Amino acid sequence: MDHLSGFLAAAVMLAAIVASEAKTTIEPCSGSDSCPALLGYTLYADMKVSEVAALFATDPSALLAANALDFAAPGAAHRILPAGLFLRVPTRCACADGVRKSVAVRYAARPADTLATLADVVFAGLASADQIRGANGLADADPDAPLDAGQRIVVPLPCVCFNSSDSNLPAVYLSYVVQVGDTVPAIAAEYETTVTDVMNVNAMGSPVAAPGDILAIPLPACASSFPKSASDHGLLVANGTYALTAGNCVQCSCGPGNLNLYCTPASLSGSCPSTQCSNSNVLLGNASTNATSAGCNVSSCSYGGFVNGSITTLLTTGLQPKCPGPHQVPLLTDPPTTVNRDYSTSLPPLSAPAPAEAGGDMPEPPPSSSVQGGSFTLPRGASTADGPARSVSEAPPTTNKQWQILSGFILCLILHFHM
Ligand SMILES: *[C@@H]1O[C@H](CO)[C@@H](O)[C@H](O)[C@H]1NC(C)=O
Ligand SMILES: *[C@@H]1O[C@H](CO)[C@@H](O)[C@H](O)[C@H]1NC(C)=O
Ligand SMILES: *[C@@H]1O[C@H](CO)[C@@H](O)[C@H](O)[C@H]1NC(C)=O
Ligand SMILES: *[C@@H]1O[C@H](CO)[C@@H](O)[C@H](O)[C@H]1NC(C)=O
Ligand SMILES: *[C@@H]1O[C@H](CO)[C@@H](O)[C@H](O)[C@H]1NC(C)=O
Ligand SMILES: *[C@@H]1O[C@H](CO)[C@@H](O)[C@H](O)[C@H]1NC(C)=O
Repeated sequence: MDHLSGFLAAAVMLAAIVASEAKTTIEPCSGSDSCPALLGYTLYADMKVSEVAALFATDPSALLAANALDFAAPGAAHRILPAGLFLRVPTRCACADGVRKSVAVRYAARPADTLATLADVVFAGLASADQIRGANGLADADPDAPLDAGQRIVVPLPCVCFNSSDSNLPAVYLSYVVQVGDTVPAIAAEYETTVTDVMNVNAMGSPVAAPGDILAIPLPACASSFPKSASDHGLLVANGTYALTAGNCVQCSCGPGNLNLYCTPASLSGSCPSTQCSNSNVLLGNASTNATSAGCNVSSCSYGGFVNGSITTLLTTGLQPKCPGPHQVPLLTDPPTTVNRDYSTSLPPLSAPAPAEAGGDMPEPPPSSSVQGGSFTLPRGASTADGPARSVSEAPPTTNKQWQILSGFILCLILHFHM
């Protein structure tokens, strides 16, 4: 009981901090342009790829591609992803009411959903109950009152574009919900940027962020230069990842060696227009080479955008000192089935009832055993075991998922005390 009351105090304190002080970077805007952005989302339950994609009104293949997960594998959309997994969700960052945000997500409320559970659990802190309330004109709605099942809720999600650049280099911005145990230096290190950069982007006076704050993290990206007439004008792909375009007929990747967008045919769609460069036998993404005494004559076929339903190709020919080897592309991996949890924080270990009990009547996507009490008492993750000298502040932030669990637990307590 001692533990529980101590923990309850900590939980209430944290809830208060998050409720009153959570900060999000706001980018004023005008016009109707939009840009690609990424939302950092931690799964609150085991969910199918297609369920996560549906939650964010995106395409399952696009979701996998943005995380360098094998999008072409058979049945990829139906793979089950583990609770606690951190994903980058690709989104369109629009300009709405003079502020950048993603407004594509329309959620059909399930029985027992409340504004608070939508905000803290389902959307994992990417939206606040207040913001959802405001966006739906639910002026007086109690955040803990169940919504009508089937009620359509618009969920505004935070994103920024900043001209798709950072320090004059192409960048895509990730909306990152600060977790309990995160520090700004650790977040900056995780995303290979600097504390100064994170502070500048987020207009922070000091390198301190509170759990629940949403930071805009610039990720180096490959920019495209497709004409305005292309439906994929402005395509931007974060380093180390992929994007699908041209009706899933073309896949574009970024990195690892350089930040030049590299596109090849994709085999996800049954009927794709030709991907061969005209006046040549070279396919998109490929090159024909002819070594001569003067050097290597290279003719390469690159992607120029999806215009009027056709794949624009560009053939460029030039003499290079050496014939290029095969193009390096980011490694695609299988979706993970487990998450390495790291519970190395100063917070007391959780050994309380699972959020799943409170939300027991929360229907799918959370199937059966996903958010279980057992997960609270897992041994410390491998990353602590192999790094005894590492201090808490240097721990990788993406492994600190306590906040999700904690907020679920708070919810559980609240529901419990209401009963
Ligand atoms: C946005 O970036 C483009 C090049 O990427 C540049 O030409 C333009 O001036 C920038 N606009 C602003 C407002 O920074
Ligand atoms: C891109 O990612 C690779 C690893 O995937 C890394 O080695 C490289 O430094 C990154 N490039 C930039 C500009 O961040
Ligand atoms: C690229 O060209 C080589 C040699 O012509 C060929 O063997 C290979 O299949 C081509 N790859 C693609 C993706 O077109
Ligand atoms: C390579 O170039 C040489 C000289 O320019 C030419 O004779 C030869 O036919 C070319 N080979 C190919 C495969 O294009
Ligand atoms: C390189 O090859 C292209 C076609 O493959 C040809 O038109 C061009 O003349 C060649 N250039 C040189 C310098 O050999
Ligand atoms: C696209 O197609 C329409 C009619 O089919 C045509 O008027 C327009 O010029 C085309 N645009 C481009 C960029 O080819």
